[in-house]
Formats: sequence, C-alpha cells, structure tokens
Amino acid sequence: MFELPALPYAYEALEPVISGKTMHFHHDKHHKAYVETTNTLLKDAKPASLESVIREAKSAGNTKLFNNAAQAWNHAFFWNAMTGQAGKPSGELAAAIDGAFGDLAGLKQKFVEAGVGQFGSGWAWLTADSAGKLQVVTTHDAGMPAEDGGQVPVLVCDVWEHAYYLDHQNDRKGFLEAWFDALPNWSFAATQFTAARGQGQAWRFPAPGAEQPLKRAG
Ligand code: FE2
Repeated sequence: MFELPALPYAYEALEPVISGKTMHFHHDKHHKAYVETTNTLLKDAKPASLESVIREAKSAGNTKLFNNAAQAWNHAFFWNAMTGQAGKPSGELAAAIDGAFGDLAGLKQKFVEAGVGQFGSGWAWLTADSAGKLQVVTTHDAGMPAEDGGQVPVLVCDVWEHAYYLDHQNDRKGFLEAWFDALPNWSFAATQFTAARGQGQAWRFPAPGAEQPLKRAG
C-alpha cells in the first residue's frame, strides 16, 4: 500500500502565495484521495514502486489507475519542488537556464505563458534531458513528462483550479507569477537537473513500507 507522503514543511509555509487553507484541502483531500484510490484499484497487487504502477497502467491502457497513480506522484513531486525559503538557481542549473532562456526572467516568462496557455487542468513543468537541455512543457490532467522518456522533471507547478482558486480565484497568471518568484525549490531543482544528466538519483515516490522523511520546519 502506498502512503500519503507528509508535506516537507508546515501547511502555512508557502503563504501568502498558497494559503494554509489551500494546502489542507490540496494535500489532505485531493492528494490523499489519489493515493487511496490508487491503493483501492491495485487491490491485492504488491507493486515495488509507484513509478512501475504508472508505467504499467499507461502501457495497459488502464486510464483510471494511471490517472490516480500519476496524480499521487505529481502532487508529491510538487510539494518537494516548493519551499517557503525563496532562493535563486545557482551553479550549473543557473548557467543552463541562462543558456536556454536568456536569464531567469526569460524562464519565468516562458513558464508563466505555458501554464496560462494550458487549457483546463494540468501541470507546467521545467524538464531536462540527459544532455542537460532544459525545456518548459505542459501536461494535461494527470500527464507527466517522464511518460515520453528522456525528460526528467526539474520543477512543476499545479495549474488545476484546486491549486489556486481559494487564494487567487480565476487569476492563474497572477498565481503563476507569484509562484515563480517565491516558491520554486531551486536546491531540489538542481538535484533533479544533475540526475537528468546521469549523476545521482532523481526523486522517487516513497516505496510501499518506506519510512516517511522527517518533517522539516519552514
Ligand atoms: Fe493538485
């Protein structure tokens, strides 16, 4: 059975961009439901990882299982890709951003445009390939870039209405702009960027029975 991963920070840590109220709904209701439905659909199966469940559901055309398992994964990744301690990219990731987008403002513009342009529910991602090439992509509903192979997610922002409606109502653009300025966890992003190029391990959903990481303050 997969467990709902705890948030790596307090519910209020992302305020004012994302309120504690939104985080309670988003994590304790939406994310929890995706994890529980995945477990229900798996019945007595004992998968080794959520990643393998997602892969197999996709290739078998099991849309309901894919949607719930991928949403369980995407949300856990999303929580880790944010921090209440605003920072800036540095080192090789900063250089790659400058190379691909001109500068951080260029990435922000592209990321916000992509998220605003995503029709309906979905996700805006920064991804990297094995050569370190960065790309901004969007996926619909539960879609994730890893499906297509070769693209390792570096950052993500949830652009489903449930992610921002309580705090920003219909202003998805305002949410994305504020999100980009305050919440990306650039240290997590740097680890993902390094993993994309074959060094170290990219983030994985906690395996069944794995111990939950300790909650961090902030
Ligand atoms: Fe969400």
